[in-house]
Amino acid sequence: MRKKLFRKKDIGAMLREAGATGELKRSLSVTNLVTLGIGAIVGTGIFVITGSAAASYAGPALTVSFLLSAVGCILTAFCYAEFAAMIPLSGSVYSYGYTTMGELLAWFIGWDLILEYLFSCSTVAVGWSGYMLSLLESIGIHIPKHIAGATFIYSDETGWALSGSIVNFPALFIVALVTAFLFGGIRQSAIINNVIVVVKVAVILLFIGFGLWHIDSANWTPYIPENTGEFGKFGWSGILRGAGVIFFAYLGFDALATAAQESRNPRRDMPKGILISLTVCAALYVAVTAVLTGIVSYKELNVSAPLALAVDRIPNLSWLSPLIKLGAIAGLSSVILVMMLGQTRIYYAISKDGLLPPFLSRIHPKYRTPHKATIFAGAATCLIAGIFPINVLGELVSIGTLMAFVIVCISVVVLRRTRPELHRPFKTPFVPFVPILGALVCLAQMLSLPWGTWARLIGWMILGFVIYFAYGIKRSKLN
Ligand code: ALA
Repeated sequence: MRKKLFRKKDIGAMLREAGATGELKRSLSVTNLVTLGIGAIVGTGIFVITGSAAASYAGPALTVSFLLSAVGCILTAFCYAEFAAMIPLSGSVYSYGYTTMGELLAWFIGWDLILEYLFSCSTVAVGWSGYMLSLLESIGIHIPKHIAGATFIYSDETGWALSGSIVNFPALFIVALVTAFLFGGIRQSAIINNVIVVVKVAVILLFIGFGLWHIDSANWTPYIPENTGEFGKFGWSGILRGAGVIFFAYLGFDALATAAQESRNPRRDMPKGILISLTVCAALYVAVTAVLTGIVSYKELNVSAPLALAVDRIPNLSWLSPLIKLGAIAGLSSVILVMMLGQTRIYYAISKDGLLPPFLSRIHPKYRTPHKATIFAGAATCLIAGIFPINVLGELVSIGTLMAFVIVCISVVVLRRTRPELHRPFKTPFVPFVPILGALVCLAQMLSLPWGTWARLIGWMILGFVIYFAYGIKRSKLN
């Protein structure tokens, strides 16, 4: 039994498998990877969460939160890049874990990644639905409430309740649309994604470029609002909590690592792709936050479309408001696309190893995509996005992702010791300091999350262990 739980996949065999099968098309260039990365990263975080995080936790100093959070992500990104270049397989951290820490831990990581991708797709789909409804409302189209909201609502005070809505139809719609694109093949999806990324970044640059001239420095004073006496409400602890909350905004660069097997030259291009996209996003986020909190007092920013609110405040800039809504809608679509891609490739990788049912790794004869995994991911995401509220969904995503990050950082150190001879086209600098610091920063953010979130994570993991011992352990290809 013990032997089974800790059996590892051989790295050499995995690389041969990746090189020899050629099942998935290798079609992504470094430019595709960067746009795929920006497509996955810039989304709900900057378009929605920035406003409430500034209003409730950090004020104008949310810029500092963004920088803090970026540091943790960049440290982890070096580790991701080392793995993604060394083991360019579609399973991302799951595949890395299988070679370094054994089957049980790999499954545990894979199950955690399923949580991350499934719930973040759903979270962003619900956010997309909110922006879409607001845009439709502004042009006089009203969608009846009973098909435009989550079935359930949740609050800490009252617990779970029925909302009066049957289903969040716009969220189902966008998930179904994205599923159809992915079914048809990654190349088409990458081209569409490129267009969307250009639109989304253009809208953000317009906001920064025009907004810059309307900053009132009085809104930046005090830059770090005084703490209210409660941990996490302004002051330095507010900046820390703000970093934890807007961590969601950086999520997605890891999805890029899952596309390694479809990259033309993963060894050279993956590290570049990950690092360039993360740095660009960090710069955009800090600039947007500075302009946003400079135009409007942070106290007024607790709204669902903070950027649109800011431009509405400037008389000759209101033309930008519908553009921002459109940019956000397009932007959130591409986030769903990449997260969904990551989700299908995780199912594919785990299923290939026998730990999930074989239908999830079937490849479509014509499109050469894991079509059944794509349909499964679409259906699961629709179910969750259609009935659950955004607050419950978003909470789970952060903790699951941070856990995956901690594991990646530790794995780099472990593998450097256990397999020093492996060819590493990209090396994390200053090992072990960079990975250890990365793990600590992520762990600190995990610890700042509430107990309820931990409880849900533990529940999900218990479910995962049940599935492994009931199914995976017997069907593993390593048997
Ligand atoms: N980083 C992605 C977003 O902000 C998940 O929507």
